[in-house]
Amino acid sequence: MQKLIVSLLGLKGGSGKSTTARMLATAYAEAGLSVKIADFDVWQQTASQWSARRLGKGHKPDVPVECFNSIKKVLREPCAIMICDVAGNPEVSALKIAEASDVILIPTDVSVDDLASQLSFIRQLVNAGIDRSKIMMVVNNLYENATASEAAREAISAQGLAHTKSELVGRPAYQNAQNQGLAVYQTQFASLNDRALNVAREIIEFVKSKTEDKAA
Ligand SMILES: Nc1ncnc2c1ncn2[C@@H]1O[C@H](COP(=O)(O)OP(=O)(O)O)[C@@H](O)[C@H]1O
Ligand SMILES: [Mg+2]
Repeated sequence: MQKLIVSLLGLKGGSGKSTTARMLATAYAEAGLSVKIADFDVWQQTASQWSARRLGKGHKPDVPVECFNSIKKVLREPCAIMICDVAGNPEVSALKIAEASDVILIPTDVSVDDLASQLSFIRQLVNAGIDRSKIMMVVNNLYENATASEAAREAISAQGLAHTKSELVGRPAYQNAQNQGLAVYQTQFASLNDRALNVAREIIEFVKSKTEDKAA
């Protein structure tokens, strides 16, 4: 398998980058793939601290996380899949990370404020030469606003961008799971886990389709 770089990018803090990175990395690790999260948020180290909680609680499988400040170092890692969790205001260039990525995931809430900010960020990437076909927006609907969700999806589609059909809703159980070093599909509630898994599966399918492009 060729090395894959999947990056979580976006200007907005709190949009779900670290949540998505941890969910995806856990799912890949459970599937037996060699995966590591590259924590580019070197100041907050959200992913690294989550990994420490995970180790402390003895959850299996291990999801390795390491801090990075250079995409070149990520490219030298022996892992099959590197998931780059990038801060909204990274010390390193988001463009450099985007260029090196096979897939760029941009989480967004469905509010106009959040979406507009993320779409403007995507426009900057595309204007700088990033192929929009490798971008997928991960739609989060924290307040379960069906009207806003529909409008957001229309706006995303109008830009010719891929997006998840399923969405994470805001639930304390998702936060509690992450507080315990678990992924959002590992809450105590089967229906919430299914919802989160649907999002993870869609992303994994998208990544797979891009791997096939790469192999072709
Ligand atoms: N669906 C959700 N329900 C409840 N809490 C969530 C949900 N998604 C994210 N969170 C919480 O919101 C905060 C921000 O999410 P995070 O993934 O860290 O965003 P980012 O990495 O983009 O800054 C975290 O505390 C996380 O646990
Ligand atoms: Mg984060």
